[in-house]
Amino acid sequence: MKNNINDSNDILEIYDNEYKYDQENFLNYADKIKTMNQEFERVHGRKRTFITKTYGCQMNEHDSEKISWILGNMDYVETEDINEADFIIYNTCLVRENAELKVYGNLGALKQLKRQKPDLMIAVCGCMMQREDVRNVILSKHKHVDIIFGTHNIHKLPQLINNNIQNNETVVDIFEDGREIVENINSNRKYSYKAFVNIMYGCNNFCTYCIVPYTRGREMSREPENIIKEIQDLAKSGCKEITLLGQNVNSYGKSLRTNYSFTDLLKDINKIDGIERIRFMTSHPKDLSEDLIECYATLDKLCEHLHLPVQSGSNRILKEMNRKYSKEDYLGTINKLKKAVPNISITTDIIVGFPGESDDDFNQTLELVKEVKYDSAFTFLYSIREGTKAANMENQIDDKIKHDRFQKLTNTLNEIALELNQKLVGETLEVLVEEVSKNNPDVLTGRSRTNKLIHFKGDKSLIGSIVNVKIENVKTFTLEGELI
Ligand code: 5AD
Ligand code: SF4
Repeated sequence: MKNNINDSNDILEIYDNEYKYDQENFLNYADKIKTMNQEFERVHGRKRTFITKTYGCQMNEHDSEKISWILGNMDYVETEDINEADFIIYNTCLVRENAELKVYGNLGALKQLKRQKPDLMIAVCGCMMQREDVRNVILSKHKHVDIIFGTHNIHKLPQLINNNIQNNETVVDIFEDGREIVENINSNRKYSYKAFVNIMYGCNNFCTYCIVPYTRGREMSREPENIIKEIQDLAKSGCKEITLLGQNVNSYGKSLRTNYSFTDLLKDINKIDGIERIRFMTSHPKDLSEDLIECYATLDKLCEHLHLPVQSGSNRILKEMNRKYSKEDYLGTINKLKKAVPNISITTDIIVGFPGESDDDFNQTLELVKEVKYDSAFTFLYSIREGTKAANMENQIDDKIKHDRFQKLTNTLNEIALELNQKLVGETLEVLVEEVSKNNPDVLTGRSRTNKLIHFKGDKSLIGSIVNVKIENVKTFTLEGELI
């Protein structure tokens, strides 16, 4: 592919604001790389290999599935051993500082590998790359990186590989915003029986702590026909569970020319034969409609689980976060949901130590957690993200106080989770069997409709099927049972 480390660091930067996806162009470049890879195989007696390392959310995971599909079509094969790979792709996250630092650390470690294997190609993509300051750090300190691209131009990967090979330059290609939804990029999905499906991209909410609106751009919804077609195809290939993805799925449809809404989409997906479970991530409490609550009661495939990030239980902090709902609004929604679907499981995201958070504000979060009784929660220490409004707020919270509050919150959440799980002992739950347990080859793991992780003894031929499991023992994060 290439035969020297890019020490001179020639850089080819492309900021082509006119670029529109052109399938013929995509296929031409893909064909070119495929031919090179076939020649490589003829000479070396093996195919070129790649590995993707993904940081962050499901959106990134799904983007990596698309990258794998593009590479697979160019005759690359996936490897699990980074030391064996001919092409390494880091798909990065910028939501919190620790995810960012991990990427720099891991990229640094690749320098040595690139010295040993000068033909190794390294690409970095995803949310971090949308920031100029990050790109500059990579270009100056990580000169062994060959290709830098962003969140909006995955479909250009064949062209970027080609440019890098032809010119032996670091290729930087970034779209500042998503301009169009590209429909012809498929995904190499990790599982055959469950799949992520994007329904919208971007976010317009500008919560004051969050970098996502700056890295993923403005909200854009996919046309319903394209979503339905993708799910019908998945169903035909044996997929049973789909998770609809978007930063704020409840505002799906707002950018469409018609009045078609998120609940219209749910109703249409509910009709697709073969699909047995529908999930979605993530909802914003301010947009959670009565219509959606009714869907839980009426659509048999919609799973009894809602992930509804609350972030804080203090109205003052919610206002500072620009969340556009109060604690009372949130609790009102939860009560309606529980009335409509008594066994619904509710999970959330909570940030601890947002600027100015007092003991009293934090205690209100604890109170809210006890009132809602979350089945589980993702908890985060507030992390300063340059460029967001909250980064410039005064009263940043001391690390020790943040950690103490974090621990208290975790303890409370864990107690509640265990208490809720204990109520399930003796019940029979419907489980989609996912895989063999990593710790015990006789044990299978799967998820209930309420998204609980369940372990039980069974044969691996059951993977991908839906079975009934009677719950016998419970822990904070898992349930154990017997196949019936
Ligand atoms: N600091 C800590 N947590 C954050 N999140 C988003 N931005 C930050 C930040 N700056 C959390 C929110 C969001 C989840 C995906 O990440 O809780 O819901
Ligand atoms: Fe970030 Fe808020 Fe948008 Fe979620 S809704 S992605 S937290 S800005």
